[in-house]
Amino acid sequence: MSRRILLTGGAGYIGSHCCVALVQAGYDVEILDNFSNAHARATDAIDLLCGRHIPVHHGSITDPAFIAGVFGRSAFDGIVHFAARKSVADSVSDPIGYFETNIGGLINLTRSARAAGVRTLVFSSSATVYGAPDIVPTPETAPLMFENPYGFTKLTCEQMLQQIAASEDGWSLGILRYFNPVGAHPSGLIGDDPCGVPANLMPIIVKVASGELAELQVFGDDYDTPDGTGQRDYIHVSDLAEGHVRSLDALLSGKGSHLCNLGRGQATSVLEMIEAFEAATGKSVPYRIRPRRPGDVPCYLADVRAARDILGFTATRGLDEMCRSSWYWTEQQLGRNRAAD
Ligand code: UFG
Repeated sequence: MSRRILLTGGAGYIGSHCCVALVQAGYDVEILDNFSNAHARATDAIDLLCGRHIPVHHGSITDPAFIAGVFGRSAFDGIVHFAARKSVADSVSDPIGYFETNIGGLINLTRSARAAGVRTLVFSSSATVYGAPDIVPTPETAPLMFENPYGFTKLTCEQMLQQIAASEDGWSLGILRYFNPVGAHPSGLIGDDPCGVPANLMPIIVKVASGELAELQVFGDDYDTPDGTGQRDYIHVSDLAEGHVRSLDALLSGKGSHLCNLGRGQATSVLEMIEAFEAATGKSVPYRIRPRRPGDVPCYLADVRAARDILGFTATRGLDEMCRSSWYWTEQQLGRNRAAD
C-alpha cells in the first residue's frame, strides 16, 4: 500500500514540484496550503501532471485547530513541511509575522503530528543557516549563524526539531538545506509563481527577458569573486524535488534522521547566470551594475557529499536546463494570461 504524505505549502514553488515527484514515485499526497504565496491554478496543474486529483486542505499553518483537523481526517505516514514565509527583506520589516508563521507553524504541526502518532518529517531549511559562511564549499558541520529574522526562524526550527527528536524516541527527521532553487517543470505547467514583486534573481531575469522590466539590477560587482558579482549554488527545482523523494524514502525505510545540503556543488555568478540565460533562450537581458544589496553574502556553495553519501542524491540538471525551463514556464504563463484576457 502506498504511503500517505502531508505536504504543507504543497501548492507553492518547491512544494508543487515535490508533489508531482512524490506522486510519480508512488506516494499518496495531500496538500495543505493557505495560498498566501501560491495560486489556485497550481493545484489544477498538479492534478494534470499527477493524472489524478490531489486533495487540498485549504487553511493556515498558524491555525492549530485547522491543523489538528487535517490530522483527524487522514492518517499520514510522513510530512514534508514547506509552509513558511521566505523573503529576507520581508522578514526584516515583519519579524513577528515570521516568528508566528515559521516557528508557530512548526509548533502547531509537530504538536498535531505527535498526537496523531506521525513522527516522520522532512523540513525545508536553507543555506541561510550558515549566515555568511567562512568555509566554502560549506559542509553541514560549518558554524551556524543567522543574519536576519528569516534566517533566525530557519535555524530555530532546525534546533526545535532536533530537541523534539532528542526528547522522545521514534522521530525520523530529514533536514534539507536548500541552496538556490531555480527552473521549472519541463511541462511549463508549474514554476516559480510568486504573489507580488519578486526579489530573487531568476524571476527577475525572466521579467526583463519578457520586457516587463527594462533591466536587471546587478547588486554589486566588487565582491571577492572571480567577476566581482555574487556567486550562488543554483539547483534545478526538479533535482530539489528528487532530493525530497530520496529523503522520505530514507526516513520511511528506517535509515534514521539526516541533515543534508541540497545544492549542485557549483558556484555561478550573476553575470554568468545572465550569460547562460541569454545563450539558452536567445533573449537578451540588459543589466546595470548597482550597489550591493544589504544582507547579501559573496558566495553560497554547497558541499554536496552528505546528500550523495546518505541519500544517494546528485543534482544532474545544469544551468542550461534551469534557464530554458524558467523561460518556457514564463512563455507558457504569458500565453495563458493572453488567452484569459
Ligand atoms: N541579485 C541581483 N539582482 C537581483 C536579484 C538578485 O544581482 O535583482 C543577485 C543577488 O545579489 C545574489 C544573487 O543574485 O548575488 C542571488 O540572489 P537571490 O535573491 O536570487 O537569492 P539569495 O541567495 O539572496 O537568497 C536565496 C533565498 C534565501 C536563501 C538563500 C540561500 O531567497 O531564502 O538563497 O540559499 F536563504
